[in-house]
Amino acid sequence: MPPKFLLDTFPLSIEKWWWEQACQQWPGISEDKLLNLIRQEIVKQSDRFNKFRNFDCDAYGKRDLSIIAYGNFYFSRSWTAMNFAIGEAIHLRGWNPPKNGPIRILDLGSGTGASGLSCLHTIRKSGLSNQIQLEAIDYSGKSLAFLRKLHLSQKDLWPDTQITTKRLDLKFPLDEIKRKKYDLILLGFSLNELLNEEENEQECFKQVLFSLPERLKSNGLAVITEPAQRGICHLLHKKCAEIIPDFKDLFIHSPYFNGKSCPLSQTNSKFFSHEVRKILPLSTVEKINRPLNLEVREVKFGLSMIGYLQPKILGKSHEICRIVSPLKKRKGTVSFVVINGDSNELTYELQRRNLYKEDLVDLMDLERGDILKINLAEDSSQEFRHRIQNLNQIQPIFMPRVRQDESSKN
Ligand SMILES: C[S@@+](CC[C@H](N)C(=O)[O-])C[C@H]1O[C@@H](n2cnc3c(N)ncnc32)[C@H](O)[C@@H]1O
Repeated sequence: MPPKFLLDTFPLSIEKWWWEQACQQWPGISEDKLLNLIRQEIVKQSDRFNKFRNFDCDAYGKRDLSIIAYGNFYFSRSWTAMNFAIGEAIHLRGWNPPKNGPIRILDLGSGTGASGLSCLHTIRKSGLSNQIQLEAIDYSGKSLAFLRKLHLSQKDLWPDTQITTKRLDLKFPLDEIKRKKYDLILLGFSLNELLNEEENEQECFKQVLFSLPERLKSNGLAVITEPAQRGICHLLHKKCAEIIPDFKDLFIHSPYFNGKSCPLSQTNSKFFSHEVRKILPLSTVEKINRPLNLEVREVKFGLSMIGYLQPKILGKSHEICRIVSPLKKRKGTVSFVVINGDSNELTYELQRRNLYKEDLVDLMDLERGDILKINLAEDSSQEFRHRIQNLNQIQPIFMPRVRQDESSKN
C-alpha cells in the first residue's frame, strides 16, 4: 500500500532561522544554557496546553522567550498539521483557487505564522501560481512581528505572496474585517484558546466559529486544526454541526464524507475525531526534548473544514471510510475502527494467517486519519464488525505521508 500523497518536509531553513533568533536574543551564552532556558519554558507551555489551559494575552505572546521557545519546539508541528490539512483540502476535497486574481487567506490566531506560512508554502508547492495575500490576526503584537520577519527572510519558500498583520482580540466581534471574503480561513490550534474558565466559556468559541461562513467566498473553505484532546475535538465537531442549518448551502467537508458531521461527538464513543501522524522530529526539537521526554515523533490534531462547495463524492458511501482508532495487533488478528460515508462507526478485522509478512508491514503502516476505500463483497453497512479477507480489498484514497527523501530538502 504505497502512500497516496507525499507532503514536503519542514524547511530546514526555518529550523535554522528559529535557532538564530534564540542565539541573537541571548548572545554569548553557551548552547547548553540556551537549550536549558528553552526547556524550562517548554515545560510551562506543555503544562499550559495540556493541563492548566489558562490563556490570555499574557499567556505566551508577550515574552520573547516564550515565542522563541514555541518557534524552536512547537512551530514545526503546527506547520505540519496544517500541511496535512491543506493537502487534504487541495488534493482530496476539491478546494480550488479563484480563476483570476489573488488567493485571499485569513489566519485567525496566527501567532508567529506556523499555520499561515505552511499554507502559503503548500499552495506554492502544489503548483498554483496565483498571487497569495495572507492576513494574519492575533492579539500578540510580538508574535506578529516575528511572523513578518520570518516571511521576509525566507522569500524563496513562498514567492509572490504578501502578508498583512493585525493585532486584534478574537473575543470581540471582528467588525474590522467583516465585509471581506476569503478563499481560505485558517484557525491553527487557536480556537481552543478562546475557551476559558469563565461562565460563558463556549460563547467566544462559538461566536468566532459562527462568524466564518459569512467571510467565505463561494469556493472558500475554513480549515480548523485543534489539539487532539477529547473535549476540544468533540466541541469543535458539535459546534460545526450546529452551524450548518444556519447557512444555506454550507457543508462540512472534513473529517468525514458527504457533508456529514462527526458521529463520535454525539455518542459516548471512546474515540474522538483526530489524526495521529508519524513524523521525524527536527534535530533542534530532539535536542531540546532530550531530558524532557515529551512526545515529538507524532503530530496529533483534530481537523474540521466547512465551506459552500458541494462535498466531493469519493465513492460508494459504505465503502469510503476514515480510520479513527489505532491499529490493534493481536495474536491472531489486526483490527481498526473507522467512520464510513454513512457516518457509521465500524470495526474492520483481518486475520493474520491470511497475511504475508510484507502485507502485515503495509497494514501496520496505516495511520489514524487515513482515508480508505474498502471493498466488501456486499453492502453490509448495518453490521458493525467486518472481516477483510485480503489486503487487496483495502484501497488507500488519501494516505498522506511526509516525504523522507533528499529531494524535499531546500
Ligand atoms: C497555539 S498558538 C497557535 C499559533 C499558530 N496558529 C500556529 O499554528 O502555530 C494560539 C495562538 O492564538 C492566539 N490567541 C489566543 N487567543 C486569542 C484571542 N482571544 N485573540 C487573538 N489571538 C488569540 C495566541 O496569541 C497564539 O498566537
